[in-house]
Amino acid sequence: MASERDPKQPDPAPAQWLLVDEGWGRKAVDFASLSEPGNCREYVSLHQLLGVGPGDHVLDVACGSELAAARGATVAGLDASQRLIAIARDRSPEADLRVGDMHALPWADGTFDVVTSFRGIWGTTPDAVAEVRRVLRPGGRMGLTVWGHIKASPGAWALSPFTLATREKVANQAAMVSLGRPGAGEQLLRSWGFENVERHDIPFAWEFADPEHYARTIASTGPAYEAIQAVGEEAFLDHARTAAAERLRDGLPLRAVILVVGYVATKPLDRPPVPDD
Ligand SMILES: C[S@@+](CC[C@H](N)C(=O)[O-])C[C@H]1O[C@@H](n2cnc3c(N)ncnc32)[C@H](O)[C@@H]1O
Repeated sequence: MASERDPKQPDPAPAQWLLVDEGWGRKAVDFASLSEPGNCREYVSLHQLLGVGPGDHVLDVACGSELAAARGATVAGLDASQRLIAIARDRSPEADLRVGDMHALPWADGTFDVVTSFRGIWGTTPDAVAEVRRVLRPGGRMGLTVWGHIKASPGAWALSPFTLATREKVANQAAMVSLGRPGAGEQLLRSWGFENVERHDIPFAWEFADPEHYARTIASTGPAYEAIQAVGEEAFLDHARTAAAERLRDGLPLRAVILVVGYVATKPLDRPPVPDD
């Protein structure tokens, strides 16, 4: 029998995923229309590596508001931000889009042929890989992308405003991107029983019309919210405009190429037991 809560005790802290919409959803329209389209090279490249096509039942984890239906697949998606899911539903009314936590996917075992996540599963959320494996059918394919070596990226400047967050949040951001280190993702995926694990360089380049466009775009993201909480919105936007102004080029857009790593792997087939010799 469930025990009743002591009314003298403070309310329990809400689950971490319930707080995600505060950061990622607060400028959902800007994120979906200014930031996300710039990731198109990444989406096309991973779908190509996975051979996504008609007949595939595909789940995208931490889907924000983008989907893979254009390749003929039947699509589902999950994100913790209800405001981003509202935009995803507006774009793809036929898709099965749900608000929830990637650590407890609300689908039965073996539901999907393909599961993807584009910079949605991190070094700080490795257990989500177990859920990806559970909802994949045996023989199903998974693909995920993570930031690669950010400091070595020509476009590192475009992520620099995130470092205005508190030291604790910046340390957490560093832990998040740890899956891009050589061997880290491969080890994680094998530890959860995936096979045929491959690492790929994924093309990724953001382009912006001018510093104002860049500042508004980057301010719409979750890590920007952490920086804005620390220094305020105006200081954040100023930092972003200044970083971009130094990269202006005559007759060309502002461009930020960032190293992104893609992992693809398969869930082993259920093999019949090997008979004793
Ligand atoms: C870096 S964004 C990537 C979004 C999208 N995949 C894209 O390509 O733009 C991270 C996403 O993870 C979502 N998210 C964060 N924590 C989550 C959780 N515990 N469960 C589900 N989604 C989560 C955020 O709402 C956000 O949409």
